[in-house]
Amino acid sequence: MKSKKIDISGKGFRYQALVGAGLMAKTGELIRERVASSHCAIIADENSAQLFEALVRNNLVEQGFQPVTIVISPGENSKSLREVEGICDKMIAAGLDRRSFILGLGGGVVGDVSGFVASIFHRGIPHIQIPTTLLAMVDSAVGGKTGVNVKSGKNLIGAFHHPSLVIADIDALDFLPPQELRQGYAEIIKHGIIRDAEMLRDLRNGKATDRAKLICRNIAIKAQIVSTDDREVSGERAVLNFGHTIGHAIERAADFEMPHGDCVSLGMVAACHISMKRVGLSAAERNQVVELLQKFDLPTQLRRETPRHRILETIRSDKKFERGEIRFVVTPRLGRAHVSREVTMEDLQEAIAQL
Ligand SMILES: NC(=O)c1ccc[n+]([C@@H]2O[C@H](COP(=O)([O-])OP(=O)(O)OC[C@H]3O[C@@H](n4cnc5c(N)ncnc54)[C@H](O)[C@@H]3O)[C@@H](O)[C@H]2O)c1
Ligand SMILES: [Zn+2]
Repeated sequence: MKSKKIDISGKGFRYQALVGAGLMAKTGELIRERVASSHCAIIADENSAQLFEALVRNNLVEQGFQPVTIVISPGENSKSLREVEGICDKMIAAGLDRRSFILGLGGGVVGDVSGFVASIFHRGIPHIQIPTTLLAMVDSAVGGKTGVNVKSGKNLIGAFHHPSLVIADIDALDFLPPQELRQGYAEIIKHGIIRDAEMLRDLRNGKATDRAKLICRNIAIKAQIVSTDDREVSGERAVLNFGHTIGHAIERAADFEMPHGDCVSLGMVAACHISMKRVGLSAAERNQVVELLQKFDLPTQLRRETPRHRILETIRSDKKFERGEIRFVVTPRLGRAHVSREVTMEDLQEAIAQL
């Protein structure tokens, strides 16, 4: 199968995302013209390493590259400065230098950590993203945000560092458990709500079954938004946070024991409620979103035992809202979204109570 190419560019960056089957086994050929050195590090977590590292490494070696593999533990805990330091030490010990490059082989965790290492190693070396989860393919591998967590919050330490290439091999998804697959669908549905009502219809009618096409459509949406505002300055990029204000608060109130996509799903239901009240989203469209989330096994109601007051407290204590101004992404109708400054704490409280 031929791969599809998407050009992603903006102020000071230009790269491609390749989407298709069988791409990992051709990594060497695909990157040859885009890198200047043969020395590289493959950074993977235990799961992605076990599944795909040999495939990628063997091809790289065959093509004359000299890769060293660094494996980290799976999970959010690996997004730490300690892990970053450990990876840098291993890269230096392996003789990698400022001409080397990094391949991040795994989900969003690997992409964020390896991308951050690439942004600081010798003040910045090229990064190639090989996303292996649906979420990483449609969301985290594109856009240039890299980083790690610290005690006081998620993704607080990081850098903008665009990849030189994204290689999304859809065969990787055959190994992904359903619970991880649905995390990706949460972000796909988000993209539909903010930019592509037709994609929502296709998902609803079972017409979006071609994974490569669906991934391309989503990368294109994110790329278009990021191209105009890659550093989140003008505010355009903020629409990507649809469902995330309340979603993040749920995530924190649940001590990060609930997956991100599930929390965003709930956050999107709440954001639809607020959109009905503030910008006239129709009840019919809100219901369509809820049904679509349910179709993909995403939660649309908080479990009874979830401490709702903690969710609101979490939002109140968020530094971003300290001055009382809430910048909340709303959708007046499906396929469109903008930031509103009119949403109040009471609106949020009401929407959370409805969940
Ligand atoms: N940089 C960004 O713009 C951005 C955007 C969204 C999310 N993120 C970050 O991404 C992370 C979440 O990413 P994720 O959902 O990919 O989680 P993840 O990287 O933790 O991967 C989920 C699980 O799937 C395993 N796995 C990976 N590929 C697999 C495969 N093909 N088959 C079977 N198992 C596989 C992983 O080892 C892990 O256990 C979060 O840290 C989040 O903050 C970043
Ligand atoms: Zn998200």
